[in-house]
This record gives sequence, C-alpha cells and structure tokens, in this order.
Amino acid sequence: MAYEVITHEYDVVVVGGGGAGLRAAMGMAQSGLKVACLSKVFPTRSHTVAAQGGISAALGNMGEDDWRFHFYDTIKGSDWLGDQDAIEYMCKEAIPAIIELEHFGVPFSRTAEGKIYQRAFGGMTTHYGQGTAQRTCAAADRTGHAILHTLYTQALKYKTEFFIEFIALDLIMEDDGSCVGVVAWNLNDGTIHVFRAHQTVLATGGYGRAYFSCTSAHTCTGDGNAMVLRAGLPLQDMEFVQFHPTGIYGAGCLITEGVRGEGGYLTNSEGERFMLRYAPSAKDLASRDVVSRSMTIEIREGRGVGPHKDHIHLHLEHLDPDIIHSRLPGIAETAKIFAGVDVTKEPIPVLPTVHYNMGGIPTNWRTEVVTPVAGDPNHVVPGLMAIGEAACVSVHGANRLGSNSLLDLVVFGRAAAIRAAETVKPKSRHRKISGQGIEKALARFDRFRNAGGQTPTADIRMNMQRTMQNHAAVFRTGESLREGCTQISAVFDTLRDVRVGDRSMVFNTDLVETLELDNLLSQAVATMYSAVNREESRGAHAREDFPDRNDDVWMKHSVVWVDPAGKTSIDYRPVILKTLTDEVDVIPPKKRVY
Ligand code: FUM
Repeated sequence: MAYEVITHEYDVVVVGGGGAGLRAAMGMAQSGLKVACLSKVFPTRSHTVAAQGGISAALGNMGEDDWRFHFYDTIKGSDWLGDQDAIEYMCKEAIPAIIELEHFGVPFSRTAEGKIYQRAFGGMTTHYGQGTAQRTCAAADRTGHAILHTLYTQALKYKTEFFIEFIALDLIMEDDGSCVGVVAWNLNDGTIHVFRAHQTVLATGGYGRAYFSCTSAHTCTGDGNAMVLRAGLPLQDMEFVQFHPTGIYGAGCLITEGVRGEGGYLTNSEGERFMLRYAPSAKDLASRDVVSRSMTIEIREGRGVGPHKDHIHLHLEHLDPDIIHSRLPGIAETAKIFAGVDVTKEPIPVLPTVHYNMGGIPTNWRTEVVTPVAGDPNHVVPGLMAIGEAACVSVHGANRLGSNSLLDLVVFGRAAAIRAAETVKPKSRHRKISGQGIEKALARFDRFRNAGGQTPTADIRMNMQRTMQNHAAVFRTGESLREGCTQISAVFDTLRDVRVGDRSMVFNTDLVETLELDNLLSQAVATMYSAVNREESRGAHAREDFPDRNDDVWMKHSVVWVDPAGKTSIDYRPVILKTLTDEVDVIPPKKRVY
C-alpha cells in the first residue's frame, strides 16, 4: 500500500525521550540547532523514571574521593572490557555534569550542611580498592524520576520540538552508508512521518523485554538497536546482560542497590550473610555480577529461602525507620505492594533479575556510531549517533557498576550535544536523497500491518522470553547456549506466521507490539549467538565450561550483524587501552576480586 508521508526537516532528530535523549536534545537546542525529539511514550514516562538509587560522581561530599578512583572502579567493574578513553571522559565529566543537573533544578537529597547527599554503591571504592566510596548522588530512591522531569523542563525551555507517541520505524540510510533521518509512525492519528536530519541520535534504551523477568518497562524493546541491525550495521558486546541482584521475587520490580548502600544485607535459608564468603572485603556491595552469581550458587546448593528454596532474603528491618522514610520511601512502598512486606519488620524476597544491557550500538566517546570496515575498526558512520543504554560506548564493558547508568545518560547526552554543535551548521540545507530507505521502512511496516498468519504476537514473545531466560542466564554453558541458539532461531522464524488482528493505523497496540517483537527478536538472536561465541568468563558473561577470563584471546569487543533471515556474523573491535589525557594512566588488566 502507498502511504502518504509527512516530511519534516530538522538539524538533528533525537529518537527517545529518556534521560540521554532529553539531555542531548536540550543541549543541542541550547546551541541553536533545530531539534526534534521523538518518543513513543510521554517523555516523563520513559524508563529513566524508574532509576532509583542514584548517579555516581566523585564529588567527595561524604569523605575523600577522586574521579581517578571512579575511573579505576569502572574499569575493574567492566572486567577490563571497557574502553579506557571513554571511561576517563565519563568519570572526569561526571563532576561538572552533576553540578549542572543541580543548577537545572534536580531536587537531590542533602547532607546536614546542604551538600548533595551521596550513598555507597557496589564496586565503588577509594584509593584504588582500599576504602568504600560514598559516590552515588541520590534524590531519595527516586533519582531517575527527579532527573527526567528536570531535563524535560530544560528541553522545553530551549524549544526542543517534541513528537510524542511517535514510534520510529527505521533509519533512512543512503547508499554511501550515511544516515539522513528516520521514518516514524504517529500512534495518535496513524500518520507516517519522515524526519530529515543532519544527525540522527538514537537514545532508545535497552532491550530488557527480550527476557521473561526483568526490571525494565514494557517499552524497553531496543528499537534503535534493531533499526541499526536492519541498516546493515552491527551491535557490540551483546552477550553481556546484567542481572540486578535484587529484583522482587515473582514480580521482577527493582529494589535499589541503595538499600545495601544504606546498610541492608542478604541472607540465605540458614540466616547466613553469605556474601562474606564470596566477597570478604566488599561483601554485599561487591559488583552486581559477583552478587548475582553468589545468590544463584546459594539457591542451586539448596540454601535458597521460601517453600521452594528459590530466592534470597534482603534485610533492612534493622535500619532506623527514619532512614527508610527519608532515603528509601519508594522501595518501602514497592515491597509492600509487590511482596506484601513491611520492610521495617520483615526481609524482602529477592532474586537476580535482568536489568541492563551493556551491549548496544558501538560508538566512540564523542557518541558517533562506529563500525569496523577493512583496516579501520573505528570507522564513523556519517549522520548517526547513539547514547545511553542503546549505545555501547563502551564505559561498562562486561559489567556495569550501579549508578554509572544515569551518569552515562547525562555525560554522553551532553557529549552528543557538544559534537552536534561542532559538526552541524544550524539550518543548513538537506542533501537530496534516493528515497529507497523510506520505501524499505514502509515495506516492513506494511508487512506487519497486513500480517495475517496463525500465531499471536504474545505467543511468539513468550517463547522468546522463556528461551532467553533459560539459555542466556546468570550462568551459561556451551551446551545450553547451543540449544538456546537453535531455539531462538526457531522462534525468530515463527514471526513469519504472526497474526496481527487489527489493520487500523490509529493506536493499534497489537501492531506496535508486533513491531517491537520484531525488534526484540533480532537482539535476542544477537545476544545468544554472541554468548555462545565468547568462550571465556568475563563480567556478566559467566561460562561454566570456560570459568576464567582469557585476556590473550578475548580482550576484544564482539560485533555482531543479524541479517533479515536471522543469520548472524561476528567480528571484533579492539578494546581501547589508552586515555585521552595524561591526567590518568591506563589500568592494566589484573585479577578481579572484591
Ligand atoms: O539499584 C539501583 O538503584 C539501580 C541503579 C542502576 O542500575 O544504576
């Protein structure tokens, strides 16, 4: 079917209205660029709103700190897969970025002297692992909510133009490999839009919903990642999926690591604080991959709690109720609603739950999308940038430290704004385009709009989620991953038989969910095949058949392409082991213990 297309011209189009997208959009608009921001939900409902515990920066408000300690912790947390130039940039820029947020109006919690309150978080130390840092700046346990609302008002102030409840369908790519904009569908009235732009910025978040149990919102379907794959570009490090140690058992809702930062701890069925055995120094504040693995081992060895011995207890009933009331009010409410627990009296039942994707769209520290081409592992794709969880910049490497995610959003959202201001001349003319990118996007839309197969979208999604949950889990083996590859490819193929009941174009949630499922499936395939390929254990990728990290062979990023038939090909990019300035030295790899 031929669709009528409404065309817009902007200097920059930002896809995604979460923390990264809003920080980029406001900064670009502030520098005089004409900016469109597309969001499939109202911006303040983006998943950033759910971030609880805080945002890291070595402000030193609660004791000695230094951004170089933060740099070291982040590299160690990444299990030496993070790019050290980008990590240096993030940790150093964290300090001005937080002060800027404070000036924008983020209502941070305060110390008695009126400074920004900072709590302890996993893997955050002083003096290169010697002490415990209180580095995570918090607005009670609703930090993401506070930041997102503030950034939205800033973006409005600088006249960012919002296109709300618009879902991006595909990038518009030209034959020379450059991106010239994006095609989108307005859910509200069913119209199709083309956004021409000199830079297209993907800030579309992660793909947690590829799994059955996750802390991510229903909207977290990694739409930008999938658009990149359809554009013939690769994703990077997709095998690294973070399980947050404390999702509420059965519900998956996040209970912030800030609970342990405020003195909470985990116990097994014997009432033992088992983290003392696994991480004698950091204990319950070891890095997330370490805590999630330890909990899984306790459950596997029969020391889980509950009638089925299949979860763990998180205690905060020993904490002063005033602390819970002032610093953790949200989780007290969440635990009551979703676990029926009064946290001042009983422990919360918790289980490691999918929380974050370290992998995503490969970029350099300036947020430009890169792809390996012959002889150049860092070739920049003209016109395309990526930020936030959608991107793999890579500051988190094989495992992200808690509270480095909100930081990544604001630092690299800001970096994207700086880069766009350097590379785009406001209101410059748009080049002529072939139009084939638009046709391709509409052909895909049409395919799903008219999909009259036999299998409901929800059934395919459930098969995908269960396969991912069972085969790309906290612990992996070659055997289970190979079986996972067979199964996920079979699920991918069933999309050919999908049934989309409603053919209308106005608020057709069945069609939206099918487009999102298509997006999720290619990322699920990328994850499973990248995981079977990496024969070592590093960060969140724990192979029982290859229990050690193998720097000689595997200290490299995986890049994976997924073709329209669901077939993968894998290549590599070197990890960047250099810094941007001489203010800090490269941290050479060593054994990672907490
Ligand atoms: O536990 C938390 O509050 C989550 C923070 C994060 O993922 O950075």
